[in-house]
Amino acid sequence: MSEVVKREKWGSKIGFILAAAGSAIGLGNIWKFPYIAGDNGGAAFVFIYLISILVIGLPVLIAEVLIGRTTSLNPVGAFRKLSHGSKFWTAVGGMGVLAGFLILSYYAVVAGWSLGYIVESIKGVFFEFKTPAEAGHYFNSLISNVWWIVGYFALFMALSMFVVIFGVQKGIEKGSKILMPLLFVLMLVLVIRGLTLDGASEGMKFLWYPDWSAVTGETILLALGQAFFTLSLGMGAMLTYGSYMSKSDNIPVSAFEIVTLDTLIALLAGIAIFTAVFATGLRPDSGPGLIFYTLPIVFTKMPGGYIFSILFFILLSIAALTSAISLLEVITAYFVDEKGWSRKKAVLVFGTVTFIIGIPSALSYNVLADVHIFGRNFFDTVDFLSANILLPLGGLLIALFVGYFWKTENALSALKEGAESFFGKYGWFAVYWKIFIKYFAPVLIAIVFLKSIGII
Ligand code: TRP
Repeated sequence: MSEVVKREKWGSKIGFILAAAGSAIGLGNIWKFPYIAGDNGGAAFVFIYLISILVIGLPVLIAEVLIGRTTSLNPVGAFRKLSHGSKFWTAVGGMGVLAGFLILSYYAVVAGWSLGYIVESIKGVFFEFKTPAEAGHYFNSLISNVWWIVGYFALFMALSMFVVIFGVQKGIEKGSKILMPLLFVLMLVLVIRGLTLDGASEGMKFLWYPDWSAVTGETILLALGQAFFTLSLGMGAMLTYGSYMSKSDNIPVSAFEIVTLDTLIALLAGIAIFTAVFATGLRPDSGPGLIFYTLPIVFTKMPGGYIFSILFFILLSIAALTSAISLLEVITAYFVDEKGWSRKKAVLVFGTVTFIIGIPSALSYNVLADVHIFGRNFFDTVDFLSANILLPLGGLLIALFVGYFWKTENALSALKEGAESFFGKYGWFAVYWKIFIKYFAPVLIAIVFLKSIGII
């Protein structure tokens, strides 16, 4: 079918950059990054995270986009084509599509909390709380309400499906072109608010002056894993977005821009959140509840907090939406390319399937609260399986594929298309990419993976 239906392309270079940055920038930047940094000594973690981005993030991102652009196909078709029909590598692509279902199914649950918190902040409920414990109690009462959690989850899935149905140019690209600038503006507003609070400098110190004593082997693994997740790597999302690129686009420069935007937003989120947390005398290490327990209290204590609380949850929801559409696009591209389905049918059917798969995750905090699989509730099991197992495994296989099966020489000559003058000027970049994709990335990702499954 793929030969019959003309495949869409991005309408512009900036359209691709914003869509890919939209995929990368998400809950990982605004929810996960600040709390992991907060739990792991702040600046020291940030420093290791930045190195991880350069050592595995950028090289693997380039590899994924390149596989997509070279084949103009979804992950399954792309691996099948480049491996000349190898069953093993085709299955690796299939694992990516499967991971897409799993990640989206619980990611959209958390994104639903964010949508719900827009409404809570408009209602002004945060002003009734005095301590993070009270805010936490309120959060727990919301997520134990089946209708609240399933309702917002459904609403968020519907929004994602709405965008993806319109296709690459009219849906994803156009949506990203509106939502991403809005996200940057909202983030800048929150950063300025944070920096102008009395006592903001404590938060800045926490973020920029490393306390190396807080660093352990675990910190390094967390930083590597975070670098991976935040760039949407390991399951073919960037591969799929790359498949809509043209051969005249410059992949290394695009990848560098995406990484820069993603890192910038994570750091800005860190500044906005830690200045506010320290200025109001709260603690940075409250874990995953940081933005749902601690921030609401922060908002009640700062001038203009009512407005800033609403802006914050709108920002978080936008970021989550542009990431969710990239996950849904992987699944959609697979059914459109491989099974000849119409885009509309693929989105409606598999958006609904993803919603159904996500219901046990949504119910993990209420009806199914007592159901545990190896000590984890359903939500945590899906999170662990996808983020800690399928993604690093996928990333490892992608690096090995490019380094040893497709071979870096072949990959490099494909990479040079559209980037001739770039490689003319920065010849060393080819060496960096080759070494990192062939040696550093596989070894480091393998360590993260083996650690995740408890072998080391
Ligand atoms: N990168 C996104 C974030 O930071 C999450 C995400 C979207 C993702 N698509 C992905 C993660 C694909 C891994 C793989 O929130």
